[in-house]
Amino acid sequence: MYRTHTCGELRLPDAGKTVTLAGWVQRARDLGGLTFVDLRDRFGITQLSFNMERDQALCEQARELGREFVVQATGTVRERESKNTQIPTGEIELIVTELKVLNGAKTPPFTIEEETDGGEELRMKYRYLDLRRPNVRRHFELRHRMALEVRNFLGGQGFLEVETPVLIKSTPEGARDFVVPSRMHPGEFYALPQSPQTFKQLLMVAGFDRYFQLVKCFRDEDLRADRQPEFTQIDCEMAFVEQEDVLTTFEGLAKHLFRSIHGLEFNEPFPRMTFTEAMRDYGCDKPDLRFGMKFHELNDLAQGKGFKVFDEAGLVVGINATGCAGWSRKQTDALIDFVKRPQIGATGIVFLRRTADGLKSTVDKFYAPEDLALWAERLALEEGDLACIMAGPAEKTRKQLNELRLHLGDLLGLRDPKVFKPLWVVDFPLLEQDEEAGHWHAMHHPFTAPKPEDADRLESDPGSVKANAYDLVINGTEIGGGSIRIHDRTLQERMFRVLGFSDVEAREKFGFLMDAFEFGAPPHGGCAFGFDRWVALFGHRTDIREFIAFPKNNAGRDVMIDAPSPIEGEQLHELGLALREG
Ligand code: AMO
Repeated sequence: MYRTHTCGELRLPDAGKTVTLAGWVQRARDLGGLTFVDLRDRFGITQLSFNMERDQALCEQARELGREFVVQATGTVRERESKNTQIPTGEIELIVTELKVLNGAKTPPFTIEEETDGGEELRMKYRYLDLRRPNVRRHFELRHRMALEVRNFLGGQGFLEVETPVLIKSTPEGARDFVVPSRMHPGEFYALPQSPQTFKQLLMVAGFDRYFQLVKCFRDEDLRADRQPEFTQIDCEMAFVEQEDVLTTFEGLAKHLFRSIHGLEFNEPFPRMTFTEAMRDYGCDKPDLRFGMKFHELNDLAQGKGFKVFDEAGLVVGINATGCAGWSRKQTDALIDFVKRPQIGATGIVFLRRTADGLKSTVDKFYAPEDLALWAERLALEEGDLACIMAGPAEKTRKQLNELRLHLGDLLGLRDPKVFKPLWVVDFPLLEQDEEAGHWHAMHHPFTAPKPEDADRLESDPGSVKANAYDLVINGTEIGGGSIRIHDRTLQERMFRVLGFSDVEAREKFGFLMDAFEFGAPPHGGCAFGFDRWVALFGHRTDIREFIAFPKNNAGRDVMIDAPSPIEGEQLHELGLALREG
């Protein structure tokens, strides 16, 4: 037997027991006559104690131990003289009578403690060492608990967890596919699922009624802090439902997670906002509701007074940075620099401040005090407040002001990661138009149903058609999204046509689904949540890589195993991807 207890288990009442522990040497401290070793495993740290007078050979052996050696120690549990209140085992130590090195270890490339000296790249290369750090490990304990709670809750609601295949044909979710060549069918490829969307719909046709799956999805897209090329969804689908049923069910899941993981009760229904309201009031479809700073449009008040920048703009819109009237020139200039960065691309900001001396703007020469008073009223500017106003083409300006709003939220400490503000965004447009090419593509995916009352405008006025599509947004992050689906072959065919698929292409790509619709497809709908994102949010962090055991870096590489990597000529040939030489 390697051990009788873990390194996190022993307490004062265990004093006097003879036990055996096994783990890694976190640190050895040689104090002359005494040597202390902190022995660590997943469960905690226990102090091993060696004494020259008691056993010189053993003490010398302990002094030789290097960091991260794997050792086994047997001895007697004893109450410590100087207790450590910081750790649960801090009242006891092990008086070691037998010590065995199970395996040596090279000096690790970075310190394996909560605070480490290792940079990102190095920690990813030696991720298995990084994962030994307790704060990193805790992320996976959280992930595990959340997965259990998801399964408990959905299982309790009658959902069946069903696995769907990974080697499939393209499912369009708006990203590129990863493809897998097939040895048995040279020149042909599988695609890895961007989501199990079509399969879960087929499970509804199969009469499974309520399906879910914690499932890996693969998307070849540009990476960000909240995007990985492979990530996990809580994927769900329900038959015989309307939008309201889906929202109620998954609001239940969200509330269950808030309660079971964080002890938080949300007694009120989550707020809802239409896509149009979200864009108008916050300039984005996933507003962070931890703080206000709603948009206020000023076209009617600010145009026609000779200030060209405003007169020529599609939209003049401002926010109230409450309490910032005292900001220095340097601070407001920094805001202008922020919006002028190429990623945001704005031309500037007009400021209006209200102090004890009254209203003062950076465009005073164009506007009379009465004009500015009207702006201030619209913006609810109180004494001490600073309005930031931007102008330009409507859509672009909304996006830019959204960036500024979030930046101000950060600067003012209004985005506390321990505060949670969930929101449903509903009534998304069904389609969006490609600015350059002019063609239409599905805002969510091509299987989303138009609102019944809008369906007859699908061909004549596609841009005006709304969908029963919804997103769950928490703290400005899109945690999940879904829709009511098309379950009628004719409507699905019309949708494909609007999206520019020829009937032949549509049949080739999705004939199996349209065929299924002719064998008794029930009305159905569902959603999928980004599990990595949800775990990161609950761990009060923004980078989902911290919650993925072996993530890819921002260039999509796994630097530990060095993937992707070239394959041998012979293998390429076998896959029908290269001609054999000679
Ligand atoms: P959607 O494409 O919105 O919907 O994806 C659902 C959720 O998955 C998460 N997500 C990601 N997480 C990490 N890395 C990524 N690259 C990534 N891409 C998406 C987001 C997102 O909200 N089949 C539909 C769902 C449905 O209609 O039922 C779908 O996949 O949190």
